[in-house]
Amino acid sequence: MIEIDDLHKSYRAPDGQRSEVLKGISLQVPAGSITAVVGSSGAGKSTLAKCISLLEQPTSGSIRVNGQDLSRLSGEDLRRERRAIGTVFQSSALLQRKTAWQNIALPLVYLGVVQRDIDKRVNTLLEAVGLTDKAHFYPSQLSGGQRQRVGIARALALNPSVLLADEATSGLDPDATESILTLLKQLRDEYGLSIILITHEMDAVRNAADAVAEIKHGKIVQQGQVRDLLAAPDSTLGRQLFPLKSLAAEGALRLLVTYAATQPVATDWISRISQQFNVQIDLLGGHVEVVGGSLAGRVEIALRFNNAAHTLHDLLPHLHQLGLIIEVLTQPLLLKEAV
Ligand SMILES: Nc1ncnc2c1ncn2[C@@H]1O[C@H](COP(=O)(O)OP(=O)(O)OP(=O)(O)O)[C@@H](O)[C@H]1O
Ligand SMILES: [Mg+2]
Repeated sequence: MIEIDDLHKSYRAPDGQRSEVLKGISLQVPAGSITAVVGSSGAGKSTLAKCISLLEQPTSGSIRVNGQDLSRLSGEDLRRERRAIGTVFQSSALLQRKTAWQNIALPLVYLGVVQRDIDKRVNTLLEAVGLTDKAHFYPSQLSGGQRQRVGIARALALNPSVLLADEATSGLDPDATESILTLLKQLRDEYGLSIILITHEMDAVRNAADAVAEIKHGKIVQQGQVRDLLAAPDSTLGRQLFPLKSLAAEGALRLLVTYAATQPVATDWISRISQQFNVQIDLLGGHVEVVGGSLAGRVEIALRFNNAAHTLHDLLPHLHQLGLIIEVLTQPLLLKEAV
């Protein structure tokens, strides 16, 4: 696993002033999990990536991989331990005059690995990223998504325990993005990698991340398990993950319903509640999808009770029991007393 503790990084700006870009970042990514790092442009995400991959020396703080503090090393020790972290960037930076195969082999060649072992390792990696048939293609003959796969294979060449991806899916179309994310999830599960996925795409976070941290002005302002954030109605990250645009419903009792992460929600809850309480339920908007095996997300509904015998007050405990978190958005005056 990787543990980042109280990481600070200052740069000297062109005017000579020092500015602190990272202001005490702490983050842990256990083996076999994906943590996304999100945040607006200039927040410090790539600076964090450079510190983690040891391209930049942090001003203070520590980066431990499997218990060893890499930020304290230099020279040969640093070069050796740096192998624990594989890095892939947006443009994947492949050498244009070398084939996919040769690009993946590079880190092994630099390390002086014997040819037979290089052959074996590169073939395994090509297979892992699904590019065996493109082994002898040059980068210019590959699609953007395929180039990223080569970049990922190269990052994995030295068997790292951490894979760091900075905007690895930016600029790819949705299908290519999806297949890269599927590959990352596979690598997480098969090799037990700790993956740090730096991205500005919330779709990617929803699709692939187990946990997410938001950086703002060099500090983590929110972090947690994706499932927990989705289920927290007041988490702004949760709302960014499941953006919701709903119809207006004048004069209706409007509820925001969040699927809690604590129990799987039955897909027929609307019809069940509707029958049991003789209430008309209109769907005004929603964003629900499968996250980590069960439904997650939020829907907005309008309720109209057909029978004065039932009220929202009766309904709420049943909704809670079904694994739903309820926020009353608007309540017509007439109904208020009933609640
Ligand atoms: N070498 C450097 N010298 C001085 N300032 C730098 C240096 N590198 C980055 N910065 C500053 O650090 C801040 C954060 O940059 P960084 O590249 O980490 O942002 P980011 O979150 O990755 O943004 P984006 O989403 O646009 O990629 C910026 O204000 C930038 O000007
Ligand atoms: Mg960046």
